[in-house]
Amino acid sequence: MALDAPILTKRIPTPPFGDIADRKVVSYDQFVATGGYAGLDKAVSMTPAEVIDLVKASELRGRGGAGFPAGLKWSFLPPEDGGQRFLTVNADESEPGTFKDRLMLEFDPHLLLEGIAICMHACRLDTAYIYIRGEYHLQRKRVQAAIKEAYDNKIFGPGSKLGQINGRDPQCFDHRGAGAYICGEETGLIESLEGKRGWPRIKPPFPAVAGAFGRPTIINNVETLAMVGPIMVEGVDWFKSMGVARPEGAPPTVPASYGPKLFGISGLVNRPGVYEDQLGITLKELIEVHGQGMRNGKKFKGAIPGGISMGVLGPDQYEAGLDFDIGKKYACLGLGTAGAIVFDEDTDMVSVARNIARFFAHESCGQCTPCREGTGWMYKMLTRIEAGNGRTKDLDLLLEIAGSIGAMPGTTICGLADGANWAVRTIVNKYWDEFESRVKPTLVQVTVGS
Ligand SMILES: Cc1cc2nc3c(=O)[nH]c(=O)nc-3n(C[C@H](O)[C@H](O)[C@H](O)COP(=O)(O)O)c2cc1C
Ligand code: SF4
Repeated sequence: MALDAPILTKRIPTPPFGDIADRKVVSYDQFVATGGYAGLDKAVSMTPAEVIDLVKASELRGRGGAGFPAGLKWSFLPPEDGGQRFLTVNADESEPGTFKDRLMLEFDPHLLLEGIAICMHACRLDTAYIYIRGEYHLQRKRVQAAIKEAYDNKIFGPGSKLGQINGRDPQCFDHRGAGAYICGEETGLIESLEGKRGWPRIKPPFPAVAGAFGRPTIINNVETLAMVGPIMVEGVDWFKSMGVARPEGAPPTVPASYGPKLFGISGLVNRPGVYEDQLGITLKELIEVHGQGMRNGKKFKGAIPGGISMGVLGPDQYEAGLDFDIGKKYACLGLGTAGAIVFDEDTDMVSVARNIARFFAHESCGQCTPCREGTGWMYKMLTRIEAGNGRTKDLDLLLEIAGSIGAMPGTTICGLADGANWAVRTIVNKYWDEFESRVKPTLVQVTVGS
């Protein structure tokens, strides 16, 4: 099941293929000398429609959390009308437990820039913005240096390989965020890019139709775009030889989980980090092979599969296969960013739930009442349960609040509320006994003699 060779980490030494101590930033020359920008050369020899068809055929799914098919998204753009069209690259990476994009930005930024250029050619986009998380100072510097090298070598700018798009020279800029989780949500990001408060927009219209500055916009995650260059070079069959195919006999509308993936692992394991493997490896493999086992030989108690919005995998879900359909099989929201956080037998799950609820209450942008009020209530209730002041009925009430703030779609503008719901609901449900033992029996008033 393991990968034969590294793909996204081809130039970033990572176990089992390389030693982390050997990592160095990859320059333009080194990138080209190791096969880089060959995918762009192939793309510009094809028509934009042919490139979109190829990405569609690969069934590459977005690596930013939602797993939406990239080629399908690219095909949603309206026809060119001579005006500007944007690519916004989501390098906000603010989901707790997630640090995979940081690796690409820090060491191999040209792999991202190649994907950006291919996407710009395919979708006829003239301007790209890389929206980088505010705390990523070093990564931003590395990206800026790589953008300069790319201009010097005519990947972007006048006389570039992409040629003129809508009468303009293709441009690529970096843009720094200010550290708000909500600016990772695609329309919150666009608002922030436009210089406004990062409040998610009501959809429709979707960004493909009216995105940045009201113009057609594609938004993709760093890892999604980094995957496009290798797919152009190696082809669709190669990409689909990795990962998890759709079940036999299932129609093409049932999504599969093809390709390699960056998996993060943190928490109570011996070797936290980012590792590359095929989609579909089990949580057990991630912990025992890549994470080198549980720290201090402790027992596994549970794990968040990928960013805290996804909820938890419980003690009996150690063998869960990490593919995009994990949610349907294991009662969690999904694979998310594949940045796992691991808990051991000593972890206090009430405290974990309280900590997560605090994060969502703090990061809710406040536009929607169920999210603004509900996340705050959940945090307050979990705080009192943790302190030993909870009542039995609090557990049902907690589940009721979680369910009512996250009943997507329809009750809130964006997915933050749904993430808060799944996180709290799955922890309470999967560790019910632990929660029950922490609350006091609720006294029922009985009126005698009436
Ligand atoms: C609250 C919230 C935060 C998000 N944060 C990120 C993020 O930091 N990085 C990211 O790529 N996607 C994030 N997303 C998902 C984006 O909205 C969007 O789906 C993604 O950037 C699309 O790229 P992809 O199709 O390549 O995955 C977030 C979504 C929500 C609801
Ligand atoms: S769901 Fe929450 S974070 Fe998202 S727009 Fe509404 S209030 Fe803001």
